[in-house]
Amino acid sequence: MKLNIAVLPGDGIGPEVTNEAIKVLKAIEVEFDHTFLFHHAKVGATAIDHYNTPLPDTTLERCKASDAILFGAIGDPKYDNNPSAKIRPEQGLLKLRKSLGLYANIRPVKAYHSLLDKSPLKQERIKDTDISIYRELTGGIYFGEKKISNDGNTASDLCKYSKHEIERIAHLAFKAAQTRKNKVTLVDKANVLESSRLWRKVVTDVSKKYKDVTLDFLFVDNAAMQLILNPRQFDVILTENMFGDIISDEASVIGGSIGLLSSASVGDKYAMFEPIHGSFPQAANKGIANPIASILSAAMLLDHFELFDEADLIRVAVERSLELEITTPDLNNTYNNITTGKVGDFIEDFISNPKDSNLNFSNIHLGQSTII
Ligand code: IPM
Ligand code: MG
Repeated sequence: MKLNIAVLPGDGIGPEVTNEAIKVLKAIEVEFDHTFLFHHAKVGATAIDHYNTPLPDTTLERCKASDAILFGAIGDPKYDNNPSAKIRPEQGLLKLRKSLGLYANIRPVKAYHSLLDKSPLKQERIKDTDISIYRELTGGIYFGEKKISNDGNTASDLCKYSKHEIERIAHLAFKAAQTRKNKVTLVDKANVLESSRLWRKVVTDVSKKYKDVTLDFLFVDNAAMQLILNPRQFDVILTENMFGDIISDEASVIGGSIGLLSSASVGDKYAMFEPIHGSFPQAANKGIANPIASILSAAMLLDHFELFDEADLIRVAVERSLELEITTPDLNNTYNNITTGKVGDFIEDFISNPKDSNLNFSNIHLGQSTII
């Protein structure tokens, strides 16, 4: 298959982790005889530095002309603590999502067996957790009208949803549940918010078309608690934009590191693949950023084009790296000489030589592996 992939590394650790995902995709390209063409473009703080806008038109055009987008991370501390900054890196990501109509953000959360002891949560609680969060991505309070009074003393953000916006992601969530454990949990705040009550009504209507799927409801405050008390109860979580943002960071604690969580942002026409983590500027250029979220985002990209064997091979390689503790310091403070690049090398090497991997890599901690 030939794919044109727009690469938007962005800020902070974005470029480093994205490089590893590209390394892995190149190994897949060779092994499975595909052609992947990578086209780099700027976004975020780095785009502001060069073009005075976080999303230059050329970047947006590049995305529209590609089959898929691989996104790194966005954000820079010089904007975070300045509430009066008019131009902000995050606007680039939000505009990108909106302009490309990427209304569904899919965030898988899994407790890897080999990492159960890395989570601060009790192993018996998180064991076998396997959740897919469907976060609405182009509506709600993120995109509603924003106002600030003339005297600067009052501000508001509108949370608005239409039936159409709810329906289209609800269908995706129910279809996903049919391939999983047939359960959708709608997370909302219907005891307080009118918009949440619309979600309940519309999602209940949609559910009638999916008789094999159970639908249940949880208020977001309770959902936040249930996620760490008993995460195994969840299969597909469907929720609006901001609740999804918050509970997906919370859910990442189950996996042991936010550096593991990948995502796919899809719409009717375009698709973008991005780690859920931010730009982690303190870690930039130190070789300590975990590239796995980006590498697993690349696997989701392959899934999107139904290259399931290829995507599965990446996931097998990732699991192997976790089992062998070939991981960055967020997951491994014993062998902290394992850099971002070495994790990518291992996964690349596994893909290229799955047969002799075990032989080489069992010695990796002794520095005897061919790749260290
Ligand atoms: C995410 C991020 C973004 C969001 C930020 C960077 C705007 O936190 O993708 O979860 O809030 O959607
Ligand atoms: Mg977030």
